[in-house]
Amino acid sequence: MKAVDLRSDTVTKPVPEMLRAMAEAEVGDDVFGEDPSVNRLQAKAAEMFGHEAGLFCPSGTMTNQIAIQVHTRPGDEVICHALSHVYNYEGGGIARNAMSSVRLVHNDNTSMTPDEIDALVHADSDWLARTSTVVAEDTSNRGGGTCYDFSVLAAISDYCKNRGLAFHVDGARVFNAAVAKGHDLRAYGRLFDSVSICLSKGLGAPVGSLLLGSEPFIKEARRVRKVMGGGMRQAGFLAAAGIYALDRHIDRLADDHRRAETLAEAIGGLPGITHVIPPETNIVIFDVVPAAGEAKFLAALEEKGVRAVPFGKNRIRMVTHLDVNDTDIAKAAEAVEEVCASLAGGK
Ligand SMILES: Cc1ncc(COP(=O)(O)O)c(C=O)c1O
Repeated sequence: MKAVDLRSDTVTKPVPEMLRAMAEAEVGDDVFGEDPSVNRLQAKAAEMFGHEAGLFCPSGTMTNQIAIQVHTRPGDEVICHALSHVYNYEGGGIARNAMSSVRLVHNDNTSMTPDEIDALVHADSDWLARTSTVVAEDTSNRGGGTCYDFSVLAAISDYCKNRGLAFHVDGARVFNAAVAKGHDLRAYGRLFDSVSICLSKGLGAPVGSLLLGSEPFIKEARRVRKVMGGGMRQAGFLAAAGIYALDRHIDRLADDHRRAETLAEAIGGLPGITHVIPPETNIVIFDVVPAAGEAKFLAALEEKGVRAVPFGKNRIRMVTHLDVNDTDIAKAAEAVEEVCASLAGGK
């Protein structure tokens, strides 16, 4: 029995047509800048987001970390949300790679406002760290796939410009945000000095992220990528998957969003489920009663052929993606219901 794997949208396998595009890719040595497929992917993504240039990297962690390194000098300070990926899940990379410190926005959601950022920006002074960079995350992973309103990002962008701060977006799931909110990608991209996008999440490519920005920014980013060991050779086989994904797998994200909503509706209100964050995109986060606990609940789900991940105390995350269909979602909802029933019955 094949498990319904809702641990992440990163678990997808390339569809046969994508594999064919990869096998037929024209390649060269990308460290020499000679891989035609990589060059095509970088130009295509940059154009989509209204930026001058792009850089293909192995992961979203690397694109974020490179961006922060390029925007900062050692001793600088980066402002981001307390629940952001760059702060929580990149191995302390801001300190380690950029030698910068972090000031965090704490609130009861996962987005930031210009006022919240302004409260953290340091005045220009010899004894204070220099605030140089603001990082937003759209969609927010910890928030349950929540999206920024365009107007809020535009206000932060204006604020950053006025204060001389660099504005980076961790857009690991930016296409989910764009589909949910109906953003014009070019107008959206221009709000930022740099944009990180992932091809290996909702878009279903096996590997790869892109960093987008101005020509001088990407020139410097390319140098940092090499230092981090991220220069790849015949990466065109992977870039071809990315081109395929950008051409064919964006609009279908609406199906993932619909399935997340169906799942959330089906499990909301079940005995044993105390709260479900209403999904805006493809992430469903829910809390289980403390008597169950996330570990026990997940083990019981796994026995029924449904996989998810722990997301904090009594909290579970499920993510819809290209490799799950309506039947899988119905099966997942049924499994949650059965686990809740067995817990209620003390079994
Ligand atoms: C919001 C966000 N940013 C960045 C990343 C990092 O991507 P990668 O796993 O490709 O390093 C992830 C990974 O899940 C993510 O959820």
